[in-house]
Amino acid sequence: MKDFVKKLEYRTVKPALRALQPWRHVTYGDIRVHYKRYLDGGGSAFGQDYIPLLHDCGMPRQARVFEWCAGPAFIGFSLLGFGLCDTLCLADINPTAVRACRRTIAENGLADRVAIYCSNNLDDIPPGERWDLVVGNPPHFDWSQIGEIRIGDSGWRIHRRFFQTVGRFLKPGGVILIQENNHGSTAETFRPIIEEAGFAIVLIRNAEPRLTPYTRYYYLGIMRQGEKAPEWLITFGKPCG
Ligand SMILES: C[S@@+](CC[C@H](N)C(=O)[O-])C[C@H]1O[C@@H](n2cnc3c(N)ncnc32)[C@H](O)[C@@H]1O
Repeated sequence: MKDFVKKLEYRTVKPALRALQPWRHVTYGDIRVHYKRYLDGGGSAFGQDYIPLLHDCGMPRQARVFEWCAGPAFIGFSLLGFGLCDTLCLADINPTAVRACRRTIAENGLADRVAIYCSNNLDDIPPGERWDLVVGNPPHFDWSQIGEIRIGDSGWRIHRRFFQTVGRFLKPGGVILIQENNHGSTAETFRPIIEEAGFAIVLIRNAEPRLTPYTRYYYLGIMRQGEKAPEWLITFGKPCG
């Protein structure tokens, strides 16, 4: 009975209430980003830390950036709006998040610079896509919850599948720079998954070696094994002070 009520809540009541949520907006540079509150997984808050960090480490403007698990693409549109990249590729499994991105693209006249795909991980990304930089704020915890796909990645299956497939799209010398949460993982949680897929962790920023009892966001910089990290990425990994 308890299970039935929970399923009813998450499969019927919550989606209906979410559909009624109003569209909200936030502006990055000259881009007005559309979203609903429940689509925000932190990209409008800690996700914005990317911008000053990438600016301050001297990252050259990237030709094409992919935002993995993009949601409304707060991070991607912010990189574009503040001139840190020329074009964007975005993907998310949630059709409403994709709808939000489409609204942003249409209102800001970005159809020639931004592509959006509704895709389970990278499954429906066209084979011709090529990325210089991948950013992302994926689900941060090794668990699952009915009706909530922003937070849980049970068994780290989403992460594993991502690393197994991203090599098809990443340009030679391309960089993956993702945000994780020390409350749910450490760099060592992902190292075997990353290395099995032929990649290497080239930078860890702001991480604790153990799980923390509180939220602490950290960055992992990842490249193909044997590739040399660019100077800007090395600088990104060395926080000042
Ligand atoms: C932590 S939220 C981040 C959302 C947004 N990037 C932000 O920073 O606010 C994680 C996102 O991953 C998406 N997601 C979950 N499972 C996925 C999958 N298998 N493939 C693609 N996206 C997925 C969710 O829909 C959600 O938008």
